[in-house]
Amino acid sequence: MSGGIAAYKAAEICRRLMDAGATVSPVMTIAAKRFIGEATLSALASEPVRTSLWGGPEPIPHTRLGQSADLVVVAPATARIIGSYAAGISSDLLSATLLATRAPVLMCPAMHTEMWEHPAVVDNVATLKRRGVHFVEPGVGRLAGGDLGAGRLADPADIVDAASTLLRSSRSLDGVRAVVTAGGTREPIDPVRYIGNRSSGRQGYAVAAELAARGASVTLVSTVASSLDAPAGVDVVEVETAMEMLASVEARLGAPGSSADLLVMTAAVADFRPAARSDQKIKRGSGVPDVQLVANPDILAGLAQARLANNAPGPLLVGFAAETVRPGGPTLEELALSKLRSKGADVIVANDVALPGVGFGHATNAVVIVDRDGRSVQVPLTTKEKVAVAVVDAAERILVTRNLTS
Ligand SMILES: Cc1cc2nc3c(=O)[nH]c(=O)nc-3n(C[C@H](O)[C@H](O)[C@H](O)COP(=O)(O)O)c2cc1C
Repeated sequence: MSGGIAAYKAAEICRRLMDAGATVSPVMTIAAKRFIGEATLSALASEPVRTSLWGGPEPIPHTRLGQSADLVVVAPATARIIGSYAAGISSDLLSATLLATRAPVLMCPAMHTEMWEHPAVVDNVATLKRRGVHFVEPGVGRLAGGDLGAGRLADPADIVDAASTLLRSSRSLDGVRAVVTAGGTREPIDPVRYIGNRSSGRQGYAVAAELAARGASVTLVSTVASSLDAPAGVDVVEVETAMEMLASVEARLGAPGSSADLLVMTAAVADFRPAARSDQKIKRGSGVPDVQLVANPDILAGLAQARLANNAPGPLLVGFAAETVRPGGPTLEELALSKLRSKGADVIVANDVALPGVGFGHATNAVVIVDRDGRSVQVPLTTKEKVAVAVVDAAERILVTRNLTS
């Protein structure tokens, strides 16, 4: 715990971690002790609170804590501790422990919006993410002093979920090579205009992060590489159009005798593209342009067909399907099953994008996941990170049966 107003919520995080079966060693900064009493944390945790590098029973407390931890959770994480960790400065027990651990680290920032959006803090967070540090992003809500905005500590239940995922899932996909696509493709009409869609790419980034957290080596083929931070440890390839995405995916799958084990197609690939791209900007005065469209290849179906034709196992193919369910028509699960068959995929993740908070442009999603073995999993409205966990669980189940995982 570092010293922010949200330190009182650390008590609940501690209790929930204990309920989940963890052994919890609390470390508080001097500032954290101004916000919540040591006695509260000591009573809730497995071990008494430690606050100082000096004067305790252990001669070198930070190395013992860092080396023995399976996971270090910093909640709340102040701007100060984020900066200190990014700069590699060890000035107290918490910052020394962070540098003395090889365990995964989960930072849970909490601060006023102005601090959270300060370029120094933004850079420090990006630096830590690049180094593989995990974050539970703060939410938007009421802050200290009655202000409203981004920077509120994430929900304790979500922090404990993220901690459990890191502890449970680490390295289960060691040795698996995965390709994930993300974002909507942009099909140019002229140098400034394109046909696009509302996909933000966030679901694909969450899937890539989850795969990497489980030890897979992940290439993310993304149309939104300039607007989203690359997940820790993930190799990002930037593309723009459906044809570029196809070429990039094929090169990485190494068709035919595929070299990747898993493809997750979360990208919203345009079905059509302008037949020709004007090299010059089309001017208003030259009349309404007649933009002819031609069909783009169906990347997932094409790869499934190639896999059949080669009579080789090929990569596991996971597709996403954005549907709109009509009253009285087929259910989302029925639509997903028919996509599974028509595309020849192994797993289809379908969502009803007409529902509020679901899919394109939202931070949340609700899906049904069907697979070729007849399993069907409903994931009610939740974060895209949690949907990613369910999607990767579904893929991992099939990969395990193929003996590809460790
Ligand atoms: C009432 C109060 C609330 C504060 N809340 C926060 C906060 O939410 N986030 C933050 O980064 N700093 C906050 N600060 C500033 C930190 O307490 C200060 O930067 C301190 O040096 C952090 O020390 P630590 O990182 O060692 O715990 C707050 C300060 C005060 C006085």
